[in-house]
Amino acid sequence: MSCALPTFAASPAAEPAPPFAVLMELTHRCPLRCPYCSNPVALESASAELDTATWKRVLDEAADVGALQVHFSGGEPCVRKDLEELVAHATEIGLYSNLITSAVLLDRARLERLQRAGLQHVQISLQDAEATGADRVGGFKGGHVKKLEVARAVVRQGMALTINAVLHRHNIDRVNDVIDLAMDLGAGRIEIANVQYYGWALANRAALMPSREQLLAMDAAVRGRLPELAGRIVVDYVVPDYYARRPKSCMGGWARRFMNVTPRGRVLPCHAAETIPGMAFETVHDRSLSDIWRDGPAFARYRGTDWMPEPCQSCDHKEEDWGGCRCQALALAGSADATDPVCEVSPAHAEVAVLRDRDAAALGTEWTYRGL
Ligand code: FES
Repeated sequence: MSCALPTFAASPAAEPAPPFAVLMELTHRCPLRCPYCSNPVALESASAELDTATWKRVLDEAADVGALQVHFSGGEPCVRKDLEELVAHATEIGLYSNLITSAVLLDRARLERLQRAGLQHVQISLQDAEATGADRVGGFKGGHVKKLEVARAVVRQGMALTINAVLHRHNIDRVNDVIDLAMDLGAGRIEIANVQYYGWALANRAALMPSREQLLAMDAAVRGRLPELAGRIVVDYVVPDYYARRPKSCMGGWARRFMNVTPRGRVLPCHAAETIPGMAFETVHDRSLSDIWRDGPAFARYRGTDWMPEPCQSCDHKEEDWGGCRCQALALAGSADATDPVCEVSPAHAEVAVLRDRDAAALGTEWTYRGL
């Protein structure tokens, strides 16, 4: 998921400004098996998923808390037969609906039903610019061709299309082809989203990490094309974490812009927050989204800047990057309280470079596919 989203004014400590969007992970079921899946290592089963009535109630609560958008996500949200009903409900209560999908389960008839229900935006993930590589990464034969068909149908039907392209060692050299493909499909936006190493992806880091040479070539290619692309397609791009010198503003800042609801109804400040040990998460069965957003312990834990250690506390950028990514601090520095090791002033920054260079040199490492 890209973090390049509009910024909001700083929230007063007592009453936080409303979230911009609520991401509803309707299910963890997914026909693809991407080795960089960002869903938790332990997936929630279909039998644990919230039912339609509860998701509708959660949508009502998303509107109550002041969110403007709802992202229907997963896993693959199209496995839910009630997707149209949920989109229609979101439309009725004034929420802007975005579908985040692999697209392989969609066809024109269902797209038309979703559009009639009020769906306004579709985000489709691409695994590569060409079918062989894409289908190999996704572990789904014929998936790439299907995605292209659906992407063209989205644009033909007049809905907004974003292409999310996840780059790694095996496709990063084709970044120009990926951009050209997104333009050809008629996308209004492309997320050039390098793999983020949480969850399942962390275990596959040595199979996916690009080399410094690959990174520099990709970075030059993207930056070189930005003037030509301006006004034609919106490009969301940030330097990938392991090669960056400054941390990204993950989620636009912890508990500042987004809420995540998992398939069984846990309410999280970010999709990977469950990796943080000792953190208690409330569910939609415990309290309303408004109450959880206002003072839920997990949301309050890293909101704002008071929690920051030095050198973050004295940093001029602390209200730009909001301390970077807590889940990455946990994964790389062993504590979610630590300075994000991506930052060059973190005591653990040098270790990130060692891990990165070791994994980038591990050519021939096979990845492990995501299993259901
Ligand atoms: Fe960045 Fe959790 S993924 S804070």
